[in-house]
This record gives sequence, C-alpha cells and structure tokens, in this order.
Amino acid sequence: MSTAKSGLPAHVAIIMDGNGRWARRRAMPRYLGHRQGVKALKTAVRYASRRGIGTLTVYAFSTENWRRPKEEVDFLLDLMYKTFVQEIEELRREGVRIRLIGERTSLSPDVLAIWDNAEKVTAENTGLNLNVAFNYGGRTELTRAVRELVGQAARGEISVEDITEEALARQLYTWPSPDPDLIIRTGGEYRLSNFLLWQAAYSELYVTEVLWPDFGEREFEEALQDYLRRERRFGQVPQKEQNS
Ligand code: FPP
Repeated sequence: MSTAKSGLPAHVAIIMDGNGRWARRRAMPRYLGHRQGVKALKTAVRYASRRGIGTLTVYAFSTENWRRPKEEVDFLLDLMYKTFVQEIEELRREGVRIRLIGERTSLSPDVLAIWDNAEKVTAENTGLNLNVAFNYGGRTELTRAVRELVGQAARGEISVEDITEEALARQLYTWPSPDPDLIIRTGGEYRLSNFLLWQAAYSELYVTEVLWPDFGEREFEEALQDYLRRERRFGQVPQKEQNS
C-alpha cells in the first residue's frame, strides 16, 4: 500500500546494520559505532516524517543480539534507555507516535518503564508512526501469535476456521501498521535476519553497502527513488500484459 499521491511507501522498515564496521574502519571501539548509529536514526526519523512516510519500523535489537559480549549488550540497552530519555520530548512535539515492538521478557523494569512512558506520552500523536523493534525476533513473534490463537480456539472463544491470515496478522506486534512496502538494509548483507518475517511477504528489498552511521538524508532519498522505479505485482502479471 503506497501513499496515494506520491507513490512513496506508506511503511518503510530498516535493518540498521554496520555500526561495528563503521567503528572498526576508524580504529574505534564498536560502541562508538552504535552511538553514531543513534544520530543516523534521528536523521532517518526526521526525514521519514518530512517525506510523509506513514510508518517507520527500525530494527534496534534482535532476540539474537543477547549473544553479543555482555559489555556490548549492556551498552546497547543503556544507549536505548538514554536516547529515549533525551529524545522523547522532541519526538512528542514533532507529532511522532512511538510503539515498541518486541518481547518484554529479559528487560529490566527501568527499560520497560521507559517503553511504557514513550508509548503513553506519544499515544495521541498523529504524525509518523515509529515502531522500534527491540528484543524483537520474527519467529518469536509468530510463535506467540500462533499460541494466542490456538489458546483462544482451545478455550472455545474462536473456531479453527477463524484462524485466518488476518486473524494471525492481528496478533503480531506490528498490528495495526500496514505491511512494510520497502525494507532497507544497510551494511551490504542480503538477508532478513529474522525481521518482520510475516510482514515482509511482498516488501520490496533495498540493500546498500553504506554502513548505518553513514546513512543520511541523501541515502534515504536514493532508497525511496529506487522504490518508485519498482513495479509491484503482488503475484499478478504486469498491467500491460493483462489483456494479451
Ligand atoms: C547493527 O550493527 C546494529 C545494531 C545491532 C544496533 C542498532 C542500534 C542502534 C542504531 C541504536 C539503537 C537505539 C535506539 C534508541 C533504538 P552491527 O553492530 O551488527 O555492525 P557490524 O555488522 O558492522 O558488526
């Protein structure tokens, strides 16, 4: 679903990869790459807002990221916490509506409180919908959704026939966001890394070698322009061949 007039994507999702490499290339510790990554994230949020994108979903911390060295995990948790504390007021003023998508388990009460606060103070905003995927994993999300529906069926609240694609989509963290039209991955790798597995079914994928901290307005616009050149068919034949 594109934004009606501009043809721009209604929902852009970003896999923000390459912070570590950005730092290594400058002989800096990895954590400085993450800190620089937050600056790029701020730029991306403002640019998405300015371009009239309805929803931006960013992959900030995956369920697999717990396997990183403890110091790096602690740094990322702390960075997320501090960024929310520092930025929330400005985001609220800019009309951004924040939603945290991911597992609440394994997170400290402080982090959960900052999530809840960010969602609460921006709940009435009508500008950009910003979904921050933190402690997020696509398979975990799907397993949770299936469990919920099976539980409802077992309790007799719904019938097995009620388990439709829409019913499942409604159980996902991203509901009611539309599926992403465009998924951008920085850092040059061609994989989804357990991100939005269900929602990505028909997304256009855009991979750039640019490392996340270097992804600025120009790079974002290039991705949008690339998207505008794509022909989305959703499994159908091209428009011009329909009567031939
Ligand atoms: C991937 O780079 C990036 C991450 C695992 C973290 C992304 C997080 C941020 C940009 C900040 C999050 C902050 C908030 C407020 C949500 P990598 O470390 O895997 O890089 P590499 O592939 O070069 O090693």
